[in-house]
Amino acid sequence: MTAPSSPVTSRQTGPHPRLAETVLKHAAHPWRKPVAQHSLQEFGALSPLVESWKGPLILDTGCGTGMSTAVLARKHPDSLVLGLDKSVARLDRQAGPFPDNARLLRFDLEDFWLLAAAAGWKFSRQCFYYPNPWPKPEHRLRRWAFHPVLPTALACGGVWELRTNWEIYAQEFAQAFGLLTGVTTKLEPWNPAEPETLFEKKYQLSGHALWRWEGTVPEINGTATTPTR
Ligand SMILES: C[S@@+](CC[C@H](N)C(=O)[O-])C[C@H]1O[C@@H](n2cnc3c(N)ncnc32)[C@H](O)[C@@H]1O
Repeated sequence: MTAPSSPVTSRQTGPHPRLAETVLKHAAHPWRKPVAQHSLQEFGALSPLVESWKGPLILDTGCGTGMSTAVLARKHPDSLVLGLDKSVARLDRQAGPFPDNARLLRFDLEDFWLLAAAAGWKFSRQCFYYPNPWPKPEHRLRRWAFHPVLPTALACGGVWELRTNWEIYAQEFAQAFGLLTGVTTKLEPWNPAEPETLFEKKYQLSGHALWRWEGTVPEINGTATTPTR
């Protein structure tokens, strides 16, 4: 993990011109993918803990080895922090000791958000730390900004935070969030004194410029919402 990594390169020189069209299509047509049986089982096993939890809930999406999950749990001791990743190999590399108010779980985020939104779960924060950038324009549908699950994830609410080493990824994410919520946000350069995720550490050691973005999902009558278009 300490080997230097190359900065992201792409044929894209700015946000993809078809971003708005894709996001608005997803806003108009809620995603109805069938949820996998194993996700239903994992969600069922997690539900008693979440539903009996009295404090805030935080979601660390694509948490990898869970370094950031542990950092978040220590920063927010009154919160239950769920670190979710689809890679068992990454989750198995979790470094201990791990705070009592954090859990690392194997989940496909797409299934998790569909189930969490249907169950009415609300998060105080949803963290997107260094998601895979998929920099080839033809792979853009794999980026979260272009993903049909994004409106469902928004229904789970919270303050959203993205960190990335590709500025265009953050610009697209901010643009998608703005289209879905009507909220205008800004990116900032990010250079933490102590890295909080394994990829943050690797990119800092490699001298990459890092970016941070934050946006709050608006609530109407206590319910996170997306504007109708
Ligand atoms: C580049 S790594 C970043 C890991 C960690 N957030 C960090 O900063 O060190 C992206 C992670 O997202 C996970 N991931 C990607 N797509 C996912 C999905 N659909 N559901 C769950 N995890 C996913 C990958 O398995 C990987 O561990």
